[in-house]
Amino acid sequence: MISKIEIRESRPNDITGIEQLYVDSFPDEDLLPLVRELQDFGQGVISLVGIREKEIVGHISFTFCHVEGGKNRVALLGPLAVTPPLHKQGIGSTLVQMAFKHLENSKVGYVFVLGDPAYYSRFGFKAEDKVVTPYPLPTEWQGAWQSIRLCDAETPHEGKLSVPEPWRQIALWTS
Ligand SMILES: CC(C)(COP(=O)(O)OP(=O)(O)OC[C@H]1O[C@@H](n2cnc3c(N)ncnc32)[C@H](O)[C@@H]1OP(=O)(O)O)[C@@H](O)C(=O)NCCC(=O)NCCS
Repeated sequence: MISKIEIRESRPNDITGIEQLYVDSFPDEDLLPLVRELQDFGQGVISLVGIREKEIVGHISFTFCHVEGGKNRVALLGPLAVTPPLHKQGIGSTLVQMAFKHLENSKVGYVFVLGDPAYYSRFGFKAEDKVVTPYPLPTEWQGAWQSIRLCDAETPHEGKLSVPEPWRQIALWTS
């Protein structure tokens, strides 16, 4: 595990470093519009950065959402990125675990993610089949829709996840 890493909430002037992180981490995918919109979304998002030697080396966002017909707040994890030269040093895991603590403090106990189960299963995420994505997923992505219950949260209603504007781009769910 890496030792000297500071995790803190992101600040407006972190945006350049955060954007560069996503350019480097997702060479085949343009996540910058989503990243920018989430950074501007204020209280609706938890955004943490990992800092090492004054450089942003990791970033994670969680967006507050709810399930249609339900009252409880839930969260959607993403995006998450760690600078490629520092992969496999525990930065991604540290960001996820720290963000879980922030969510618990915000009384959010249920988290969804669309991501690689081979990675997210290490945190306890399991395939989700009661709450469905805002748009139907391609068949090959079905196993990528996962959830985790963090504390003694009530299980959400069955239904569709209702997401705020930054996540309403259909391409985020289908390509
Ligand atoms: C996924 C990512 C955030 C992990 O960051 P990290 O700091 O390297 O993660 P950690 O050090 O906490 O964990 C690394 C472990 O996860 C594994 N891992 C990383 N990505 C994985 C994946 N897609 N599938 C399975 N395992 C994966 C590594 O092999 C490593 O395994 P080990 O502990 O057995 O050595 C980073 O690889 C990344 O930014 N990737 C590109 C962007 C991306 O895919 N983000 C979304 C994830 S779905």
